[in-house]
Amino acid sequence: MNDFKIDKEKKKTKYFEIYGNVFKNYFKFAPVAAAFSLFNYIIGGLFPAFTALALASLFEEAYNIQQGVGTSGKLLFWGLIYLIAYVLNNIFIFITSLVIELGADKRQVHYRYLMCIKLSRRALIDFENANIRDMQQRAEEHLYGGIMDRIIRSSFQMVFLCALNFITLAIVLAQYSLWFVPLCIISVIPYFIARLIRGKEFYYIKHKMAKKSRRLGYLWGLFTERRTVKELRVLGADDYVFDKWTECRDDVQNELWEQNRKDAVSLLFCDILRIIGYGACIALALVLTLNGTVSVGVFGACIAAFLTLQGATRGILVLGGELPRELAFAGDYFDYINLPDEPENKNNISYDGLRDKIEVRDISFKYPNAEKYAVKNVSLEIKKGEKIAILGENGSGKTTLSKLLIGLFPCESGEIFYDGTPVENLDKTSFHKTISAVAQNFTQYRLPLRENIAMSDIDSLNDDEKITDALHRAGLHELLDKMGLDNELGVAFGGNEISGGQWQKIAIARGLFRESELIIMDEPTSALDPLIETEILTKFIELAKDKTAVIISHRVGLCRLVDKIAVMKDGEIAEIGTHEDLLAQNGEYARLFTAQEKWYR
Ligand SMILES: Nc1ncnc2c1ncn2[C@@H]1O[C@H](COP(=O)(O)OP(=O)(O)OP(=O)(O)O)[C@@H](O)[C@H]1O
Ligand SMILES: [Mg+2]
Repeated sequence: MNDFKIDKEKKKTKYFEIYGNVFKNYFKFAPVAAAFSLFNYIIGGLFPAFTALALASLFEEAYNIQQGVGTSGKLLFWGLIYLIAYVLNNIFIFITSLVIELGADKRQVHYRYLMCIKLSRRALIDFENANIRDMQQRAEEHLYGGIMDRIIRSSFQMVFLCALNFITLAIVLAQYSLWFVPLCIISVIPYFIARLIRGKEFYYIKHKMAKKSRRLGYLWGLFTERRTVKELRVLGADDYVFDKWTECRDDVQNELWEQNRKDAVSLLFCDILRIIGYGACIALALVLTLNGTVSVGVFGACIAAFLTLQGATRGILVLGGELPRELAFAGDYFDYINLPDEPENKNNISYDGLRDKIEVRDISFKYPNAEKYAVKNVSLEIKKGEKIAILGENGSGKTTLSKLLIGLFPCESGEIFYDGTPVENLDKTSFHKTISAVAQNFTQYRLPLRENIAMSDIDSLNDDEKITDALHRAGLHELLDKMGLDNELGVAFGGNEISGGQWQKIAIARGLFRESELIIMDEPTSALDPLIETEILTKFIELAKDKTAVIISHRVGLCRLVDKIAVMKDGEIAEIGTHEDLLAQNGEYARLFTAQEKWYR
């Protein structure tokens, strides 16, 4: 994606494809509004000619009356026609603008919905990929800017307003001299070339800018997020971060200013040529008047008509010149929407829980764009009902291994088998139903306790007894008494805030709430006091005695309670065995145990 280059031929066909999609969706997502807007442009294109006709008839009748041949009835008739057309046109414009706005909003929702579906179907590993995040940023940004409707509006305006004006005025002027039309076209053609070149450049600048825009949003978020703003204040780093934000903003802004500067220069050049063209038109009309081809009245009319013709032609050329840029922006959205979904599971074997064992055979995995393997040649066996602890220093690959274990990321090599079936062949929905996973960076839902717990089994949302039981098991009875089930947690929307440890217990309760057979907990008690940690984990292991559990931790507190301990180092399993085995080995585990032993006395 970094080496984004446009193959000219490919882009040409792509433009048609993009336009086809935008056009189809314009009518499909909001048909009534689309019909209104189309009608609006047709009326808008014909209205000036119609009113001009009514007005001409009105004047003619007034002249006839003056000459004694006209009737006041006819005069009234044309006067009324003109008035009615004028009023109706204004009412129509008012209603149409409302309907068009509603239509634009409806289309936005549809486009956003498609994006939402895509987000839910993308392989999770893509969310670790900065380039794909850039694509997402571009798609969202253009959508916010209303690019799709803008394209259709421009093309309707080109075809119905400018083109109609162009044709009618060109016919009128051609009667007096055939030179007027080519003169007009030549005088404004630079607008087309300039918009085309500038548009292409602007597109590339914006394309490149996606990462900077994301960074800008991220840095701004550091000031506005409740958690980060406090840390920045205490660290005294807010000025530093603000400077970074300013630097990034200036960088973005300078590139945009540079574009604006080039735009202004090219526009000036185009305007000068247009004025020269207008001067040439006056000279031509003057010659025609002096040699008696046209009257003085027609001389004035020609000049006025030429100005309008120039305006209409310029409209067509500017909009036409900008269209490729707009289509390229819209193409960014479709590029994202057309990214492949997570590959379909070929076998889709339905799964109803572990019967015998999980086998991890020599797996390795590297994150996108990473140089180092996060997990390397790991082999492991977890029997049904076994409790295994995975220990290791920061960055040793524990979390990554847990994600590979439940098939969230695909292994680069090696395989993971559940009762002999490769994990990628299992039907994801039924497989994930049998797993409770408490992630290291779990989500704090700014929702009531009830929803925070039942999120793992939403069908039981109203099962108060079950929810209360999970809360008790995670040691949250006091919080339950204080907050009740239905009061919102967190101050974000006016609820009550709770502590980091309480949030962590809620995550554990959520994991316990789902009655699954395999439980994976990643640092479930890191925010808790070591003694409370031991208490919760002891209770947890008691409760999970028939279940299979993988518990990831830095701490050795739980290790006496589990059947097996794996110690990870640099993505590999350095040691594996029981508490006694590993102490006897006197290696990494023994070192960790001795260092932490005092906490648990
Ligand atoms: N999204 C990512 N993209 C690239 N590299 C990553 C990503 N996430 C983790 N890593 C790298 O993979 C390695 C293993 O990370 P992992 O999170 O699995 O470690 P961990 O053992 O769980 O650490 P901790 O104890 O701090 O939670 C680290 O070197 C880390 O830098
Ligand atoms: Mg981790």
